[in-house]
Amino acid sequence: MSSEQLLQQIRVNGTVPRHVAIIMDGNGRWARQRNRPREFGHRAGMASVRAVVEAASDAGVEVLTLYAFSSENWHRPHTEVTALMALLELYVRKERRDLKEKGVEVRAVGDLHRLGPRTRAALQSIVDHTRGCERLKLNLAISYGARDEIVNAARRLAERVREGTLMPGEIDEELFQKQLLFAGDPDPDLLIRTSGELRLSNFMLWQLAYTEMYVSELLWPDFGREHLFSAILDFQRRERRFGRVLAG
Ligand code: FPP
Repeated sequence: MSSEQLLQQIRVNGTVPRHVAIIMDGNGRWARQRNRPREFGHRAGMASVRAVVEAASDAGVEVLTLYAFSSENWHRPHTEVTALMALLELYVRKERRDLKEKGVEVRAVGDLHRLGPRTRAALQSIVDHTRGCERLKLNLAISYGARDEIVNAARRLAERVREGTLMPGEIDEELFQKQLLFAGDPDPDLLIRTSGELRLSNFMLWQLAYTEMYVSELLWPDFGREHLFSAILDFQRRERRFGRVLAG
């Protein structure tokens, strides 16, 4: 089936995942298969980002979260980190106008203080430029780690208890969730991971509690529009129970 036929089928089925999160994996292996440096794979991965953002928007997804750089990725060789940061800056320069025209609001989520001033300024510029766009919210998780996110939330609540403005008994899931970086977004309905790995890699540990998972064997630079549509179709065939038994 062509990608447009897949999209047609998605529309016929009806329920589209509101929030899709993606662990983009396999850029390094894709480059190695071609005897090229890892950076070459990341650059090819940027084209997949473009294709998938457009496809998500066409399918009617409301929020797309991409794991672009984990807090653990800081431990990669300096040259690779520098190349990834340069790619993010390039992405902003190349896509800023187009994203705004297509109604995509970009948000950068993570410990952005660790980024260099140039990368931070580039991200800030795309966030400012696209603020208020309503067709698709695109979260770029950068320098992001879920355990760190959860610890920071706990710390903020502990501060309020110490100040005397909050009682420990008032802390519930809803209040806790409000301290997290993705507060305001619905939890992901669908998590996609490429390159066949079966790990969460410290990604959205709180928010993924009831998320449907879809693992693609493709390496990220080979993942495109039709593959996102296939993942959504697979999601549409599933019965979501949220830990309950469905009546009937
Ligand atoms: C994982 O592949 C991928 C990353 C760590 C970076 C993802 C970055 C991009 C797709 C490019 C730029 C992003 C944006 C948002 C413009 P890996 O290096 O872990 O691959 P491997 O497991 O095969 O080594």
